[in-house]
Amino acid sequence: MVHFQLNKVDSTNGYLKNLVDNTTVDNWTVVSSKKQDFGKGQRGNVWLSGDGGNALMSVYYKPNKLQVKDAFLLNKWVSLSVLKTLEMLGVYGTQIKWPNDILVNKKKICGILIENTFVGHSISDVIIGIGLNVNSIPKLSGVTALSYELGVELIVKQVIEKLVDQLKTNSHLLHKVKQLDRFYLNGLYGFKQFVKLESENGEFKGRVNSVNHLGFVQIEKENKEVVEFDIQQLKWLDLPKRT
Ligand code: BTN
Repeated sequence: MVHFQLNKVDSTNGYLKNLVDNTTVDNWTVVSSKKQDFGKGQRGNVWLSGDGGNALMSVYYKPNKLQVKDAFLLNKWVSLSVLKTLEMLGVYGTQIKWPNDILVNKKKICGILIENTFVGHSISDVIIGIGLNVNSIPKLSGVTALSYELGVELIVKQVIEKLVDQLKTNSHLLHKVKQLDRFYLNGLYGFKQFVKLESENGEFKGRVNSVNHLGFVQIEKENKEVVEFDIQQLKWLDLPKRT
């Protein structure tokens, strides 16, 4: 595996994208950095990198015939692979918070940002950005790290290698949609379990029935009404606030 290990960079996703645009990059090439000045988070947020002991990484993946309409499969595959990595490290209480945050006992341990390039109707290049809290002591409440959960510090490079191994191992699921869906749903916070939610119409209790192909979550309310939501439309009230 080609692994560029940097001390400091704006964003590992940006660095890898630049490599992909300007050179020939092997599948599964990794860029990691001890620190990021402008780590990219979901919805244009800045991802704070902690004090240097975390896995801040981007992995290059060249899909084999993946259509733009199937893009959310990538989120399912990557979330599942992170979940499996944590389980293999002996972490308990792991769950995926739709669409693709990873929680341990309801606290966020990992964020994922997948950036795709399209050619026609196909996805030509995928940059998988993963920010996993490994050794740094979280400054926000509602956030945790591996060292916190396991009671020992880990070697970040080894954690990165395990994550890439899991991505490789599970990549065949991109072509076994039903199986991928089942694994993803089983790992999902709120799947078949009523949790407190909030939408523009106020608070309610609901449970996740499924996540459709476009990545919308389907929620069944207590009165059995089924509603689909996009990411901005839903708040999960039972999860601790990150303050
Ligand atoms: C989120 O908002 O939860 C997603 C955060 C993703 C952060 C990671 S850190 C490594 C990689 N490089 C980036 O610029 N972002 C991702």
